[in-house]
Amino acid sequence: MSQTYSKHTLQKNFNWMPLLSLLLERLVITASSIQTVTLIPGDGIGPEISTAVMKIFEAAKAPIQWEERNVTAIKGPGGRWMIPPEAKESMNKNKIGLKGPLKTPIAAGHPSMNLLLRKTFDLYANVRPCVSIEGYKTPYTDVDLVTIRENTEGEYSGIEHLIVDGVVQSIKLITEEASRRIAEYAFEYARNNQRTSVTAVHKANIMRMSDGLFLRKCREVAENYKDVKFTEMYLDTVCLNMVQDPSHFDVLVMPNLYGDILSDLCAGLIGGLGVTPSGNIGANGVAIFESVHGTAPDIAGKDLANPTALLLSAVMMLRHMGLHGYAKKIETACFDTIRDEKVLTKDLGGNAKCSEFTADICRRVQDMD
Ligand code: NAI
Repeated sequence: MSQTYSKHTLQKNFNWMPLLSLLLERLVITASSIQTVTLIPGDGIGPEISTAVMKIFEAAKAPIQWEERNVTAIKGPGGRWMIPPEAKESMNKNKIGLKGPLKTPIAAGHPSMNLLLRKTFDLYANVRPCVSIEGYKTPYTDVDLVTIRENTEGEYSGIEHLIVDGVVQSIKLITEEASRRIAEYAFEYARNNQRTSVTAVHKANIMRMSDGLFLRKCREVAENYKDVKFTEMYLDTVCLNMVQDPSHFDVLVMPNLYGDILSDLCAGLIGGLGVTPSGNIGANGVAIFESVHGTAPDIAGKDLANPTALLLSAVMMLRHMGLHGYAKKIETACFDTIRDEKVLTKDLGGNAKCSEFTADICRRVQDMD
C-alpha cells in the first residue's frame, strides 16, 4: 500500500519530461552515429579476413554495424547476369560497402563478379593509396602515392568482335564524360587529402584520339584547380621513373588498363597486394572498399591469411566516412604490429595465424583507450 502510494506520489510530483527527452536524445544520437555498412565477405579466405576486420572494429568500438550479404552471379530477366537483389538493395540503402575477394571460376559462364559490381554501382574511380609500411622491408622506403584509375571504360569496355577467322578487334572506348569525371575526382581527392600534385598518365603520342581526349579533359579540369600542380607523363616513362625513384610521385590519374597494371606495380613497391588497400568510388555516393588480392584458395580455411589489405581498406572506408579518429587508431595498431615483427602472418615473414595477428592488433587498439 505504502509502496503504491510513494510510486504514485513520485509520478504525480516529479516532472519526467526533461529526463525522458534527454534519454531519447542520447538514444537518437547513439543510434544515428552508428552507421550500417554492407559487408561482402567473399570467397576463399574472404570470411576469415572479414571476421578479423569485424573483431578489430569491435575492439576499437568503431560505430559501424555490418549488414552481411553474399554476392554470387545470378541470371536475371532476359538472361542477363546480375548480383543478388538483396546485395543490391543493401548497397543502395547503405551506400558504403566493404568487400573481400570474390572468385571468378574460369568457364563459369558469367562475367567477373568484380566487373559486375563495378557496372551495377557505376564505380568509376578505383583509388589505391600506396604508402611504405615502416618495418616491412621492401627495396623502397619512401613510397607515398595514390593511383586513381578510370574504372568503367577504356580497353575494358568489353566490346570485342571477330572480324574474320584469325582476326579479332577490341575497342578502346574513351568518352569525354568519363574522362572529365575521373579527372575531377583526382583533383578533388588531391585537394581533400593534402596532396600537392596530379599526374595524368597517358600514351597520347600513339593513341592520339582516345588518350588525346583523356588528356585534354585532364588539362581542362586542371584549370579549375590552380592550387594543385598538374603534370602529364607517358605511361612508359612513369614505369621507368617509378621503379627508379617512386618518391617523385603523388596522385596519378589514368585510363582503365594503364591503371590496372600501374596500380599493381605500385602495390609491389610497398610489399604487394596483401598490404595494399583499395576503394571503388561510384556515382550517387556509393563506395565499395576492397582488398585487391584474390581468394587464395591454397590457404583458405587454414587460419593463415593476412587480413592487412582488407583491414587497411576498411581504414580507408572509415576516412571516407569522416571517422578519422577510429581510422588512425586502427591503422596505428596494425602498423605497430607489423613494425614489432613478433606476430606476423607467413606472407609477411612470420609464423602467426590470422587469428593471432588479429588478436595482437585488437590488444593494441584496446591499449590505446
Ligand atoms: P590470389 O591473390 O588469390 O593468390 C595468389 C597468391 O597470394 C597465393 O599464394 C595466395 O595464398 C597468396 N595470397 C593472396 N592473398 C593473401 C592474403 N591475404 N594472405 C596471405 N596470402 C595471400 O590469386 P589467384 O590464385 O590468381 O586467384 C584466386 C581466385 O581469386 C580466382 O578465382 C580469381 O578470380 C580471384 N580473384 C579475385 C580478386 C578480387 O576479388 N578482387 C582479385 C584477384 C583474383
